[in-house]
Amino acid sequence: MKYDVKDMKLAEKGKLRIEWAGAQMPVLNLIKSRFAKEKPLKDLKIAACLHVTTETANLMQTLRAGGADVVLCASNPLSTQDDVASSLVKHDSISVFAIKGEDNKTYYEHIISALAVKPTMTMDDGADLVSLIHTKKKDLISGIIGGTEETTTGVIRLKSMAKDNVLAYPIIAVNDAQTKHFFDNRYGTGQSTIDGIIRATNILLAGSAMVVAGYGWCGRGVALRAKGLGAQVIVTEIDPIKAIEAAMDGFQVMPMSAAVKSGQVFVTLTGDINVIRKEHFLKMKDGAIICNSGHFNVEIDIVTLQKMSEKKRLIRDFTEEYTLPGGKRIYLLGEGRLINLAAAEGHPASVMDMSFANQALSAEYLVKQAKLLEKQVYSVPKNIDENIAALKLRSMGVTIDKLTTEQVNYLASWEMGT
Ligand code: ADE
Repeated sequence: MKYDVKDMKLAEKGKLRIEWAGAQMPVLNLIKSRFAKEKPLKDLKIAACLHVTTETANLMQTLRAGGADVVLCASNPLSTQDDVASSLVKHDSISVFAIKGEDNKTYYEHIISALAVKPTMTMDDGADLVSLIHTKKKDLISGIIGGTEETTTGVIRLKSMAKDNVLAYPIIAVNDAQTKHFFDNRYGTGQSTIDGIIRATNILLAGSAMVVAGYGWCGRGVALRAKGLGAQVIVTEIDPIKAIEAAMDGFQVMPMSAAVKSGQVFVTLTGDINVIRKEHFLKMKDGAIICNSGHFNVEIDIVTLQKMSEKKRLIRDFTEEYTLPGGKRIYLLGEGRLINLAAAEGHPASVMDMSFANQALSAEYLVKQAKLLEKQVYSVPKNIDENIAALKLRSMGVTIDKLTTEQVNYLASWEMGT
């Protein structure tokens, strides 16, 4: 079995942490038990390019229980948990190609190594597998029945491929399931981003001015949690509807050019490039802390920050100090990569439970339905989404009401009024 991980001696620690996460993933565990009996993924070869975390390990074990052969590589150079990677190799005999801190060249070599299994299905977080297959590994396309995509950025990339008629197989957009983005993007990113900022810096958020760039589901989560910790939150947006929502949620809304004057901590969650750039660095206050929680490390113009700076030093793990002419210091966290996975551990297991339940059930759906699908990006079927919500509620001990027959009839009729 081929693999490339940091240190096999970390495997025992990884095994325990994977077990700990698994205990908070009841929905995925139910799926795993059923998969073990029914083997719906028999004969499938899945190449997964995901953040290599304890939660992902539980997903890999579930796919394996379903009968699939799985190979895993990292979907970000800084998000790998090395103990998890080695545990998957040692205890689950799963090929893993991922080392925390790998350089860009190794990152892409690892993706190529994962693709060497000639997958019949791809599972992406950011569409790097699909993108490589469609550019450098086109020979694999004929063997692939379909794929899944975990994240907003990946779905945007894939939809633009479908629009240009270049997408060569169907994709299920797991991100678009309500049981994914309402919870993972909002509460998962909300908590884990703050966790990453605090672990990297140990600053007090109460009373600090925190600028959240982007008020999508992820930005909403971060703004909400930062407010809860007592920060004065400023939101920047380009979308007027999201901007009104932020204003009515009680946040100050202004352009980045104004926010830089008072902001102390900046987080980008927009999915676009150069959201914080030269004109902003020039106006920032001494000591400003900047980080990103969007999928790619493109939201902060780090190349320009580097060029503008006279000095750079690593002052704490994941905290780099850039000194500009005149002595102003700007602190960049996690090299501008996803701060929640670079400096913390990503979203907690109980929220990944729903995201990865969607992944597992979408893989099963593709096995049954792929032949009937076009080369397009599809939503997770509504019944899967609702079933996951129902199972999650049950696991939380929450019960809800049912419509009475009278209420069902009322909703179905158009004649009844007051
Ligand atoms: N994305 C965000 N948090 C994650 C986690 N804990 N595991 C895998 N992918 C993630």
